[in-house]
Amino acid sequence: MSIVILALETSCDETSAAVVSDGAEILSNVISSQVDVHRKFGGVVPEVASRKHLELITQVTAEALSEAGLNFKDLDAIAVTYGPGLVGALLVGVSAAKAMAYGLDLPLVGVNHLEGHIYANFLVQPELEFPLLCLVVSGGHTDLIYMERHGSFRLMGKTRDDAAGEAFDKVARTVGLGYPGGPVIERLARAGDSGAISLPRAYLEEGSFDFSFSGLKSAVINYLHRAGQRGEEVNKADLAAGFQKAVTGVLVDKTLAAARETGVATIVLAGGVAANTELRESLARGAERDSRRVVAPPPVLCTDNAAMIACAAYHKYLRGAFAPFTLNAVPNLKLGEERYEGNFRGRLYLSG
Ligand code: KG4
Ligand code: ZN
Repeated sequence: MSIVILALETSCDETSAAVVSDGAEILSNVISSQVDVHRKFGGVVPEVASRKHLELITQVTAEALSEAGLNFKDLDAIAVTYGPGLVGALLVGVSAAKAMAYGLDLPLVGVNHLEGHIYANFLVQPELEFPLLCLVVSGGHTDLIYMERHGSFRLMGKTRDDAAGEAFDKVARTVGLGYPGGPVIERLARAGDSGAISLPRAYLEEGSFDFSFSGLKSAVINYLHRAGQRGEEVNKADLAAGFQKAVTGVLVDKTLAAARETGVATIVLAGGVAANTELRESLARGAERDSRRVVAPPPVLCTDNAAMIACAAYHKYLRGAFAPFTLNAVPNLKLGEERYEGNFRGRLYLSG
């Protein structure tokens, strides 16, 4: 008997619902992006995002069920992202999921958004073997995480200021390329020379697995400013290529160093920035030199989607890690942490 989970994801600006069987077979993964709504503001406007989620959630959920060819009665559990993310946006998914779970008398599974990103890899390769080193690079996070087993996350390093995706978005906005920054910078960088403009790379203290991207962002802003003062034309493609190389270079070097320290055979990539071809390819090349392998979800499963949440939920379901109906949105939820209010059935899993 397979376990069929309906999952909702509304942590930021994607309204998504997915139906996944046994954590690996995607029966549907409907993603309604609000990018066009937020583009004119140059970034996500939280209040607008939650209103949009509210408008879309019922329709997106109905589509996910009908695309899967299933009814509510075919489901075994309802899963939802309950943090980290924008509180008003998270609340829409959490409220909808609780209502469905309560109405259908189904178990409720609360999922950490970052855990979902990591589990996008198990969606495509369910047989992945531990230990794993995960590089999670999204709009809000840049984390290096060691996983010894399912549900266990040891944070080895994180950004001390901007997340990698945030740096892409801020630089794109400064250069006047629009939102979201990652895909536009990647496209523009293809026509540029990554060695033409010298930009700084922050490696921090010897042996540190932490990251810092704010200096790089400031260097790009200063470069544009100086060029403007001198009345010089900026080659945006060279700037995009140089910036992309500086971000991905540090990400790759630190990830490979952490892989050597932990001795893992497999590195997994996760989060929106994992869709970046330069990052995927240079990490894969470096890992191969060290006889390691890199696993990365296809780009559509790197950015926010509910299928990854269903996959993480499946593994929590197997552990009996259910949430109570008092589940609430937790905007600053940490990986490996469960923050449920009140009693719940199931077990609590903390970082190992
Ligand atoms: O994981 P995600 O969809 O949402 C968050 O959880 O934050 O990540 C979104 C981030 C944005 O900052 C976006 O610019 C970045 O991922 N991104 C990329 C690419 N596609 C999305 N960054 C670099 N290259 C890409 N191809
Ligand atoms: Zn995300």
